[in-house]
Amino acid sequence: MRGTWLKTLALITALSTPVALLASSDVKALKEVHWSFDGAFGTVDRQAAQRGFQVYKEVCSSCHGLGRVAFRSLKDIGFSEAEIKALAAERSYNTLNDAGETVERPGLPSDKIKGPFPNEAAARAANNGAYPPDLSLIIKARPHGANYVYSLLTGYEEPPADFVVGAGMNYNPYFPGRQIGMAAPLSDGQVTYADGTANTTDQMTRDVVNFLQWAAEPEMEARKRMGIKVMIFLSIAAILFYIAKQRVWARVYRGEE
Ligand code: HEC
Repeated sequence: MRGTWLKTLALITALSTPVALLASSDVKALKEVHWSFDGAFGTVDRQAAQRGFQVYKEVCSSCHGLGRVAFRSLKDIGFSEAEIKALAAERSYNTLNDAGETVERPGLPSDKIKGPFPNEAAARAANNGAYPPDLSLIIKARPHGANYVYSLLTGYEEPPADFVVGAGMNYNPYFPGRQIGMAAPLSDGQVTYADGTANTTDQMTRDVVNFLQWAAEPEMEARKRMGIKVMIFLSIAAILFYIAKQRVWARVYRGEE
């Protein structure tokens, strides 16, 4: 009997050690930001998302693509058709001409916002071996994505004295391994906003996170609205069923047949 206990104890210890190691991972706890899109009624701040697109376009797009977002869907965050046409036309895309040769044509609203590199190898070659991932789904692809991207972009700091940062790497306690191949992309005053919003690193980061949240889940608000409608419907149905049940069972409660 005692042997079995010891074996069980040994097993539990053996199983829980890797779990404990995982839990004590070396990354810093994320900063907690209050986002307008949090919660069951939350929505993406359209003004912030528009500014965030500007940040993406002027800063992030030199390394990161947004391959799941078409220019025309920017209408959803308030860009006009004319603006969208102009934005798309700034880029060029390959197409075949009548002779079957690859030629370039200006972008159309239906084109996806592709990255600057032709393929992953070229992207790595330009970034010291690191690969700048497509940002379309990054907010959904990482746990607590909005707070993660916010913490990462605002979290660059000096490494502790005993930490050796690899060549071409940057110390960032929010990235797994605490060093990242991307240098801090934003600094105060980098982007000039047309609406006069202060262009601090904090503000630009919040804006680009709003934009990336919208990009990752453009249907979020419709989904939330549907969820609320379903809850209202279910509550009314529950009340009706309760009343019906009371009526059906009333005679039984009274002891009648
Ligand atoms: C000069 C190129 C460059 C620019 C500009 C740049 N990035 Fe990066 N980014 C990278 C590279 C390279 C990596 C991959 C780093 C690694 O794996 O070590 C990366 C990684 C990231 C990650 C982490 C992804 C993960 O796997 O968790 C996020 C988020 C990110 N970038 C967002 C942004 C945003 C937002 C901007 C604009 C404000 C931006 N980046 C601008 C090159 C860039």
